[in-house]
Amino acid sequence: MLFDITPKNDVKDLFGREKEINLLKNSIKEPLTVIYGIRRTGKTSLLKSVLNSLETPYIIIDIRELFNESGSIRENEVSIKILNELKKNVKLLQKLKFLFNDMISRINGIEINNFKMNIDTSRRYKLNNILELINEIAFKTSSIFILAVDEAQYLKYGGRRYSNILAWAYDSLKNLHIIITGSEIGMLDDFIDIENPESPLFGRMLNDIKLDHFDRETSYNFLKKGFRELKIRVNDNDINSAVNTLDGIPGWLTYYGYNRAIRKIDNSGSINNVIEYSRKLIDLEIGKLISNSRDRYIAILEAIASGLNNWSSIKSYVAAKTGYISGTILNNHLTKLLKYGFIKKSEDKYSFEDPLLKLRFMSGGK
Ligand SMILES: Nc1ncnc2c1ncn2[C@@H]1O[C@H](COP(=O)(O)OP(=O)(O)OP(=O)(O)O)[C@@H](O)[C@H]1O
Ligand SMILES: [Mg+2]
Repeated sequence: MLFDITPKNDVKDLFGREKEINLLKNSIKEPLTVIYGIRRTGKTSLLKSVLNSLETPYIIIDIRELFNESGSIRENEVSIKILNELKKNVKLLQKLKFLFNDMISRINGIEINNFKMNIDTSRRYKLNNILELINEIAFKTSSIFILAVDEAQYLKYGGRRYSNILAWAYDSLKNLHIIITGSEIGMLDDFIDIENPESPLFGRMLNDIKLDHFDRETSYNFLKKGFRELKIRVNDNDINSAVNTLDGIPGWLTYYGYNRAIRKIDNSGSINNVIEYSRKLIDLEIGKLISNSRDRYIAILEAIASGLNNWSSIKSYVAAKTGYISGTILNNHLTKLLKYGFIKKSEDKYSFEDPLLKLRFMSGGK
């Protein structure tokens, strides 16, 4: 069902992404693939749907879930996450002849009995040992194993540790192919840092896949198809008003369709629900980022939302609202908002990536 609000896990439910599906299927034959896309464009759905459609063994781990209060990512937690995902898939992996019983039980702390894997979580597991083992099993069974790392930009908080491991895996573990995704595009680029000679991953080849917003026509067709699937008639004016407000972000379109078709809420109520819901999510997502200088960030976002799109007009607005701000500080704040994918810059003009983010700050940021 198109209006299912959880990530899709079947390619037949993935709308308008034929090109990206094929790109990903081909790319999986290479060691490293990166999927970029701002929030709610369907990265997790693309990953899950494509990987489910193949015979290749895989696991997906979400690094966002491991990002802890102390602002770091612990290696042992990444390792245990991988082991837990393997555990969930023991049966399936064995069906795929990915026979790892003997080998995986070589790791101290792991036992396998009758498809059941026990992990002693009081032990420490080194990530490279686990990856090495997965690679070895894949090699011995003449297969490729795919490790998909969702929201991988958070690995940056582990310093160079994770990019070192990634570079080592790229060079040495030929049967382990890695896919990483990220919604904070600048942060993910900082993590990969492929063009920097000092970066561990410097010079490696990677395939990248970019998930854009749907264009107007695709958004319209997405909603039409979703309503048709549920045998619900919705007039074109309503669909167009939703497309105008939600501007091609698949996650928002899905949530609108869900409100309209499943929860049976009227058109303006459904659009309002999306706006309300987005407001909560946006506040949560942006809140952490701007907490150290909240008033200034909010003034910047308000300025851009009100249409002040060049550097000096933003600076004047922020100064009028919050007092003097130096050019350097303004630049730091703008760079951070750009890196985290909240705003974009084109020909020296700033604007929002997501129309609902703009709406959020048009009415004032409090
Ligand atoms: N191409 C698509 N076809 C159908 N539904 C989609 C599509 N893309 C996204 N969705 C729906 O939109 C919502 C967001 O998708 P998903 O969680 O995959 O995006 P994401 O980019 O991983 O988001 P986040 O950045 O929040 O992790 C989900 O409800 C999903 O079902
Ligand atoms: Mg996701």
